[in-house]
Amino acid sequence: MSKSALITGGAGFIGSRLARRLVEAGYDVAVMDVLHPQVHAENATIQLPSTVRLFTGDVTHAPDCDAVLRLFKPAQIVHLAAETGTAQSLSEATRHGSVNVVGTTQLLDALSRSGHVPDQLVLASSRAVYGEGAWQAGTHVFYPQPRSHAQLVAGIWDPQGPNRDPAFPLASSAIQTVPRPTNIYAATKLAQEHILAAWTAAHDTKLSVLRLQNVYGPGQSLTNSYTGIVALFARLSLQKQSLEVYEDGRIVRDFVFIDDVVEGLFSAIEAPADPSRYVDIGSGVPTTIHELAQQLATSCGAPEPVVVGKFRDGDVRAARCDIEPAMSALGWRPKWSLEEGTRALLDWIGK
Ligand SMILES: NC(=O)c1ccc[n+]([C@@H]2O[C@H](COP(=O)([O-])OP(=O)(O)OC[C@H]3O[C@@H](n4cnc5c(N)ncnc54)[C@H](O)[C@@H]3O)[C@@H](O)[C@H]2O)c1
Repeated sequence: MSKSALITGGAGFIGSRLARRLVEAGYDVAVMDVLHPQVHAENATIQLPSTVRLFTGDVTHAPDCDAVLRLFKPAQIVHLAAETGTAQSLSEATRHGSVNVVGTTQLLDALSRSGHVPDQLVLASSRAVYGEGAWQAGTHVFYPQPRSHAQLVAGIWDPQGPNRDPAFPLASSAIQTVPRPTNIYAATKLAQEHILAAWTAAHDTKLSVLRLQNVYGPGQSLTNSYTGIVALFARLSLQKQSLEVYEDGRIVRDFVFIDDVVEGLFSAIEAPADPSRYVDIGSGVPTTIHELAQQLATSCGAPEPVVVGKFRDGDVRAARCDIEPAMSALGWRPKWSLEEGTRALLDWIGK
């Protein structure tokens, strides 16, 4: 069983690409996925190599987990199955709690019933666990509260320091930034981390937690309206539509290309943690939403994006991370620039 992996949610955007990478490297790969209709359009083909065993099953359903583990005892489990709609999670908390939290505990209970302890569990966690993250005003580092509706109506976009001093966001780092989730999705991702940490420690096995920034690229669901600003902007730009950029255009994100994320996960699988590791996976390059919009509009010959001053309650202002710890722990480094990555995405959508 040395080179075998079970990927839950492995028919999705990240999982299907990872499955291919693992098969190429000689792994015996199985996927457990419920083929959620919000992610997989009706009649869409599942992009998995022919040697991958696909178990169509629900991680929240104990008999489904038992059935998979009866037939496949993987050396490693990569846990990707999740509800991922950040905004949606505020009104559909139970659905997110059920899949992300109970789905994780069901998987672990099924492992206990089967008597199988994998060599390592790998979790795709999220930068969302940081919420607004740490900011600095002068020499003072602080963790801002989520921006209030009144603050956003007044167009005060940046979180403010204790004396309303100007402040700037610090790059999040699993080593030192305290997670402070501000939506249900984020809270469930942090719960997954805690649950897996407790189980793996109790079973003397290994855990790798990779907190992913905003992943984009070919293979991303174009029908799921709840995820993916890059995919949305790319589609509109190809239609030569003008992009609306929210707030003052200076919301910051780290957009990381799918292949770089897959290499990060692959590196964590190839060199298991000892006994656990928590790292941030991103491009390491902060980008404003306005810069992203301009890049896509220019590539497609679409009109200049318009900064409209609208906002969404609950959006964090800035998300960026320190990738140095991941680079040294995993011997990994991102290779794709935003320009190359968006070009690959546009080519894929345009096909
Ligand atoms: N894409 C990103 O930007 C990003 C960022 C941070 C973290 N993540 C995490 O990475 C993981 C994979 O994300 P993705 O972008 O590939 O999402 P995705 O929606 O493309 O894939 C998730 C897969 O999980 C499956 N699934 C959903 N509920 C399930 C259930 N109950 N049982 C079994 N399978 C189920 C879906 O059918 C889908 O194929 C998730 O855990 C997500 O939280 C993604």
